[in-house]
Amino acid sequence: MPIPVLTIDGPSGAGKGTVSRLIAKKLGWHYLDSGSIYRSLAIAVQKASVDLNAVDEIVKVAEGLVLEFECGDELVVKLDGKDITHQLGLEQTGGIASQIAALPKVRQVLLKKQQDFKQLPGLVADGRDMGTVVFPEAENKVFLTASAEKRAQRRYKQLIEKEIDANLVKIINEIEARDRRDMDRTTAPLAMASDALYIDSSDMTIDAVVEEVLNLIR
Ligand code: DC
Repeated sequence: MPIPVLTIDGPSGAGKGTVSRLIAKKLGWHYLDSGSIYRSLAIAVQKASVDLNAVDEIVKVAEGLVLEFECGDELVVKLDGKDITHQLGLEQTGGIASQIAALPKVRQVLLKKQQDFKQLPGLVADGRDMGTVVFPEAENKVFLTASAEKRAQRRYKQLIEKEIDANLVKIINEIEARDRRDMDRTTAPLAMASDALYIDSSDMTIDAVVEEVLNLIR
């Protein structure tokens, strides 16, 4: 029996995580937050004090990455048995994740770890290259985006709610730099799959986005 896959790709802060989790819950499907795998690797690399230019060492850390995901209301991620959920959300972690995600060898090592999430009754996969590289065979693909300003405002609100210090102008600059890095890299850049549904969530509520994606599946 073919395993249904819904891919939701797009830049950071477009609402992919929230939308993907809500849809996975509604459908009773598994959820892959591929960004959290790159973010976990960023934390593991920092923990091992590996230089960001030492590609072979980063690849070794990627090969030995032991992660556990607990999917409740919030996604809990453990690295070597230790809860790293709080660190995962830090802007610095996202920045390093984006840098090491540009390394083709790293992407190769992490490819199978992501494909292993494809299990019955189905999978919602959120990331940058889910519909183009990791699950090109998926029958339902979405490209979810929003303006950089809107994405920065949402990110700022999330951080303040989590009582993490934040500066809006700095976040806009970081988001734009990360978009450029994710789109300009040669391996699996952030790009819309030719068969994906394009949704701009700038002026949409989360519920409206969820409804539009569910219509696609129906
Ligand atoms: O979605 P996120 O912000 O948690 O992702 C963090 C970084 O990881 C992102 O800037 C680029 C990288 N990433 C990637 O290259 N490919 C993916 N499928 C998911 C994330």
